[in-house]
Amino acid sequence: MGIGADRPLIVINFKNYREAQGDGALRIAKAAEDVSRRTGVLVAVAPPQVTLMQVVRSVSIPVFAQHVDDVEPSSTTGFVPPESVSASGASGSIINHSEHRLPEDTVGRLVRRMRDLGLTSLVCASTPDEAARLARFSPDYIAIEPPELIGTGRAVSRVAPEVISRGVEAVHAVSPDVTVLCGAGIASGDDVRASIELGAMGVLVSSAIVRAPDPGAKVEEFARHASGVRGR
Ligand code: G3P
Repeated sequence: MGIGADRPLIVINFKNYREAQGDGALRIAKAAEDVSRRTGVLVAVAPPQVTLMQVVRSVSIPVFAQHVDDVEPSSTTGFVPPESVSASGASGSIINHSEHRLPEDTVGRLVRRMRDLGLTSLVCASTPDEAARLARFSPDYIAIEPPELIGTGRAVSRVAPEVISRGVEAVHAVSPDVTVLCGAGIASGDDVRASIELGAMGVLVSSAIVRAPDPGAKVEEFARHASGVRGR
């Protein structure tokens, strides 16, 4: 079950940027919550793993883990089983981010385990072909992010628009219920609007918001451009 597959979504991955450590994660999450409440646009956050439960308890918007491991809640030191995400109260997790890749069969098992726990799965793919292969697991979301554009400020929707349109088509040919997001280099409200016009239901974004001098203002810019545009 997705967290709102029928309207544009902005997912902010805090990664491990310095700005998002400790209280920084809370500050950015609260700014995102405030924008979501004022604009009505769905905004979700993925703070550093060690801040997960505190962020969950501090905001009312969906909170995601950045990664889960296909291990049991047992003697698995330092790993993050889906059960830990569930117990923290988070809504779901990013899986297979290009900075934390997993074998495809592991992705499939994790999507199943997340579904069984009632958690939302947001699976990342680097290309439309990979997205189509991962779509057979029917995650809630697939985010297509060309790795070479991540963190560059060169938006996938501007420099590689065909990756989004082909990706949406490829995913929906396999699994029409999967909601497709895109990401990598998204830096402005116009990039967000273009992503949605190309067929994505929203964006997975990091540096432009997390590293911004005023993250709240940047989320607001993104949200204003996302509202009123319809994705597929
Ligand atoms: O998870 C989002 C990410 O990989 C994109 O990063 O900094 O290009 O928005 P960024």
